[in-house]
Amino acid sequence: MAATGRLLISTILLVFTFRSCLSLFYGGNTYKRKLFVQLNPNSSSLPRGGELLHVRAVGQNDTLHYLFCSQGAPTLLLVHTNSSSSTVKVNWSQFSSRNTSGSLTVEPESSILYSSAVVFSRLWEYDDVNNTAEASSDLLPPHELQDFSWSLFNLSGATSLLCGAPSDSTNGSLCLQLSVFDSEGRNKLWPRLLHSANSSQVEVWLNGILPRSNASRFVLELQAVSGTYPLSRVDTRQSIDDEYTPSIFKMFQWVSSINGSSDILGFVQWKPVAYRKSHPVLEDATPCRHSDPDSQNGEETAALSALIRGFYSNPEVMGMNVSFGMAGEPFYNSTMFLSWTMLVGVGSPPVDSFSPLVLAIMAVCLGAPVILLLLGGVFVFLYKRRHATVTAYERIN
Ligand SMILES: *[C@@H]1O[C@H](CO)[C@@H](O)[C@H](O)[C@H]1NC(C)=O
Ligand SMILES: *[C@@H]1O[C@H](CO)[C@@H](O)[C@H](O)[C@H]1NC(C)=O
Ligand SMILES: *[C@@H]1O[C@H](CO)[C@@H](O)[C@H](O)[C@H]1NC(C)=O
Ligand SMILES: *[C@@H]1O[C@H](CO)[C@@H](O)[C@H](O)[C@H]1NC(C)=O
Ligand SMILES: *[C@@H]1O[C@H](CO)[C@@H](O)[C@H](O)[C@H]1NC(C)=O
Ligand SMILES: *[C@@H]1O[C@H](CO)[C@@H](O)[C@H](O)[C@H]1NC(C)=O
Ligand SMILES: *[C@@H]1O[C@H](CO)[C@@H](O)[C@H](O)[C@H]1NC(C)=O
Ligand SMILES: *[C@@H]1O[C@H](CO)[C@@H](O)[C@H](O)[C@H]1NC(C)=O
Ligand SMILES: *[C@@H]1O[C@H](CO)[C@@H](O)[C@H](O)[C@H]1NC(C)=O
Ligand SMILES: *[C@@H]1O[C@H](CO)[C@@H](O)[C@H](O)[C@H]1NC(C)=O
Ligand SMILES: *[C@@H]1O[C@H](CO)[C@@H](O)[C@H](O)[C@H]1NC(C)=O
Ligand SMILES: *[C@@H]1O[C@H](CO)[C@@H](O)[C@H](O)[C@H]1NC(C)=O
Repeated sequence: MAATGRLLISTILLVFTFRSCLSLFYGGNTYKRKLFVQLNPNSSSLPRGGELLHVRAVGQNDTLHYLFCSQGAPTLLLVHTNSSSSTVKVNWSQFSSRNTSGSLTVEPESSILYSSAVVFSRLWEYDDVNNTAEASSDLLPPHELQDFSWSLFNLSGATSLLCGAPSDSTNGSLCLQLSVFDSEGRNKLWPRLLHSANSSQVEVWLNGILPRSNASRFVLELQAVSGTYPLSRVDTRQSIDDEYTPSIFKMFQWVSSINGSSDILGFVQWKPVAYRKSHPVLEDATPCRHSDPDSQNGEETAALSALIRGFYSNPEVMGMNVSFGMAGEPFYNSTMFLSWTMLVGVGSPPVDSFSPLVLAIMAVCLGAPVILLLLGGVFVFLYKRRHATVTAYERIN
């Protein structure tokens, strides 16, 4: 009985050690893509009304086209094709008129496996006089992000920064930073989400935008667009490991699936935390919450965004709000800064494995009893052997 138990525990320990060694050497998933970045593809001049960034992430037999556009409300569109030679075509005069679909196409059309887009449509602000963090009352008129004046894209590698401000203000800005990745990894700054070669990261932050009330809090409105299967539900994932994002044990993913099955086609993924400083410490973390996704008028969303108008003829739209701060937490005026990060990708969302530190702790917790048992075994063995030797010696005498 004891021997069987010992064997079982040793086996478990061996498997754990082997797994953590493997992941140390191979760094988990190794799927890689080649990235090609192009600004305003084939436009002869700077397009009026905002720029269009195209990042092609080419895999072995497939391509992910990331399109990020600031004509109207900022929009990120992802198109997954089953060919490594698919292309994007833009008819710029049509695209900038924003009144017909089909001005931006991915060719050949038969290669398209999946597409979805996220529109950053509005920034809501409310006066939280009673410090309850309930946005239902005292909503101020929203900041329409389509009316912001947006900067040109500031490119560095496959990372692009877009900042905008309400046209009546010179102070402060709302910025969106898109990072596209060629392989798996994590950024250095919290929340340190795990990304893969099939996902991109968008960090959204408010910096110095003047609050319009004494106790302002903010809510970001997102609209997810797809051609066929909408991003219809939010799944929750729990973890006991918070090493990468201190004090946060949850992950949310807003997913699109075929008729509600568990096969995920595309996702938006985030941890329920925002930060009140650009280089935060733990006290600068503030919780965030989201509303249930609900369906929106596709025509209204298309009117907000040139990219949605140009690519989708019949967009299916779901909307969701993310609100920052909880009752009793400091208001926005405490730092005049707020940042929140999410991933947008295709296929199954990345899953955090246990961090090396937690694996080490588990190995020690499991290992200590095993070592004790082994030592005990050795001791008993030696004792019996000695005893046997003594008996044998005695017998000879
Ligand atoms: C990818 O294409 C290569 C040939 O170009 C083929 O040998 C391979 O089977 C394809 N892989 C997949 C997963 O379709
Ligand atoms: C740009 O033009 C070149 C040649 O005119 C064409 O090969 C390419 O596909 C075009 N790219 C886009 C994005 O329209
Ligand atoms: C772009 O659209 C305009 C107006 O619909 C059309 O006249 C023009 O031929 C198109 N350009 C190309 C390159 O297809
Ligand atoms: C789209 O707008 C352009 C000018 O902004 C106009 O010339 C064109 O007729 C419009 N097309 C449609 C289909 O409304
Ligand atoms: C994959 O690409 C081929 C053309 O290369 C096309 O005939 C086929 O329909 C595509 N498959 C899917 C699922 O779109
Ligand atoms: C704040 O609390 C007061 C007193 O409880 C209440 O009358 C008022 O309606 C509350 N205001 C909001 C915006 O909830
Ligand atoms: C572009 O971004 C870099 C760092 O991300 C920054 O140093 C630089 O000032 C930015 N340039 C402009 C024109 O905003
Ligand atoms: C911008 O900030 C400066 C100083 O920080 C302040 O004097 C000025 O009034 C602000 N402008 C607006 C439009 O709020
Ligand atoms: C990314 O997508 C490719 C092609 O669909 C797939 O082979 C690969 O396993 C995916 N990688 C990850 C990390 O999901
Ligand atoms: C902010 O508070 C001050 C003093 O507490 C008050 O005079 C002012 O009216 C308040 N402003 C707003 C917009 O509520
Ligand atoms: C922020 O606003 C609250 C409520 O009006 C006020 O009590 C607090 O002093 C302000 N904080 C800062 C840093 O201005
Ligand atoms: C999804 O459901 C619709 C109607 O409920 C049905 O027509 C369609 O075939 C289903 N699709 C799949 C892939 O099961």
